[in-house]
This record gives sequence, C-alpha cells and structure tokens, in this order.
Amino acid sequence: MSDPIVYLNGEWLPRSTARISPLDRGFLFADGIYEVIPVYNGKPFGLQPHLDRLHRSLTALKIVVHTDWPQLFQQLVDHNGGGHLSIYLQITRGAPAKREHKIDPTTTPTVFAMANPIRHNLAIWHQGISLNTVTDQRWNRCDIKSVALLANILGLMDANQAGADDALLVREGELLETSAGNLCLVQDGVLMTPPCTTHILPGITRLLTLHIARTAGVPVEERPLPVGMLATASELWMLSSTKELVPVVTVNGQPIGDGQPGPVWRRLFALYQAQKVAECGAGAEIVL
Ligand code: PDD
Repeated sequence: MSDPIVYLNGEWLPRSTARISPLDRGFLFADGIYEVIPVYNGKPFGLQPHLDRLHRSLTALKIVVHTDWPQLFQQLVDHNGGGHLSIYLQITRGAPAKREHKIDPTTTPTVFAMANPIRHNLAIWHQGISLNTVTDQRWNRCDIKSVALLANILGLMDANQAGADDALLVREGELLETSAGNLCLVQDGVLMTPPCTTHILPGITRLLTLHIARTAGVPVEERPLPVGMLATASELWMLSSTKELVPVVTVNGQPIGDGQPGPVWRRLFALYQAQKVAECGAGAEIVL
C-alpha cells in the first residue's frame, strides 16, 4: 500500500507516521487555512496566484510563518515522484499547552503538506455533473481559504442524499458557488461569474479562466447571478484546481440549456488545457 512522504513541521516522513497534537487549534477550533495547488509534469500550475491567496489567508488570521514555499513544494513533489499531483498545504495556529479560546502568541504554527496523485474521472467532462440548490449557511468570510468547511460539507451531504453530484450554494436569491468550486454561467454568449466578495472564495481556476476568456475575446461579466438565470442560461460550469472546468448539465433535475456540455465550455476547456501545456509542458493536458 502506498505511504506517501509528507511534510510536517520541518520533517519529511511517511504519512502513516505523521502525528499532530490533539491540542492543535486546527483540530479544536478549525483555526487554520489551507491551499490546494495542482502540479503537472512535476511543475506547479498557477503557483503565483496560489501563493498570493495563501498570504492573504495567513494575513487574515494573523498567522506568521517564514517558509520558502516554492522550495518546499518542489521538495514535496520530488519526494513523491513528480508527475501529476495535487499539493495540499494546511497551516494552523499550532498546539498551545492547554485548550483555551484566547490565543497564546508564543505558539508555533503547525505546517503540514502532502501531495496526492491526480486521478481524473473523465466522465465529469464527457457527461457533465448535476447540482442541487441548497441554502448557503456559511459565515461572512468565505473569501478566506479556511479549513472550517462544515457548512460546505453539510450542503454537499444534502445534495448527495437527494441524488445530485454537488451542492449549488444560494444566498439571498443569488447563485454563489458549489461546495468546493466557483461558478460560471453562459447566457447570450457572455461568460458571467459572481464578483469576488466575502461570499465566495476567489478561486485560482476562476481567475485563470477569466483571463484566458478575455484574451480569447469572449465577453466576460463579473456580476451577481440571480437564481432565475438558471432557466435562461445556455451553460453552467463548476471550476476548481483539481477538477478544472466542469460542465453542469442539470440543477434540481432541470436541464441547463440543452442538458449537454456546451460549446463555450468546450472552447474554454481546450484553451485551459493549452495554458497548462504552456506552463507545465506537453502531457499536462487532459485528452477527452
Ligand atoms: N476547493 N470555492 C470553494 C468553496 C472551494 O473550496 C474551492 C476550491 C474553489 C475553487 O478554488 P481554486 O480554483 O483555487 O481551486 C471555490 C479546493 C480544490 C478544495 O477544497 O479541495
């Protein structure tokens, strides 16, 4: 059985032997943040925007860590044989001497990183996925990549129990994102996505996709998406670093557009693959 090498607080060790304290504030209070960075051909994709978001998350929590992240990621990739991986990095406020809400400023943050092989299930791109709307019960700082994902997970559970692949989070009549990805909607040839407020995570796949779309001359609007647009949209997509651009073909059992992955998605998916190849080399692309 595979036992990948992980990084924990300055040490490289087999994942099965890695241990954190039960007093870790990440475990007790979800007092921590994380990042997920895709790696193709051993090279991180979109590294700088991921690092920028990591710094914003750490700053929001006032956690200070001095680490050479690109070097650490390269070592992690090398320890795990390179290829196509997804890096998971989690930083918490660490394990103080006792459980108490008040922060002990002398506590050393916990830094954990692992790299998991990317194994694509091509069916999500060939067939698309289904979503069910759920009320967004998250807090007002969804822009921080916090490890506190309980509301996302409960929404996903409800959607899965109702037979859908994922949840579409709705707050005050607006479509925001899925349990673990951003949203793009196509209507009248315009690519629309909710603006970066404190109600969504500013996804890196979203950022890269909007840049690629604008460069290719596709009209882009960052604007609120009222729930009623589900009835008029020709396409809907879910975006994340691990699943890239995924067509959504039904919401609450109703087809989006003609209920098939659409032409704008097909074009942007191809351009996104080309960007991966440009940054990480041949073989980085998904071939459908
Ligand atoms: N999820 N919105 C939410 C709530 C997310 O959890 C994610 C990512 C995104 C997309 O962000 P990005 O494009 O930077 O991956 C949007 C990651 C992949 C996860 O939790 O595993």
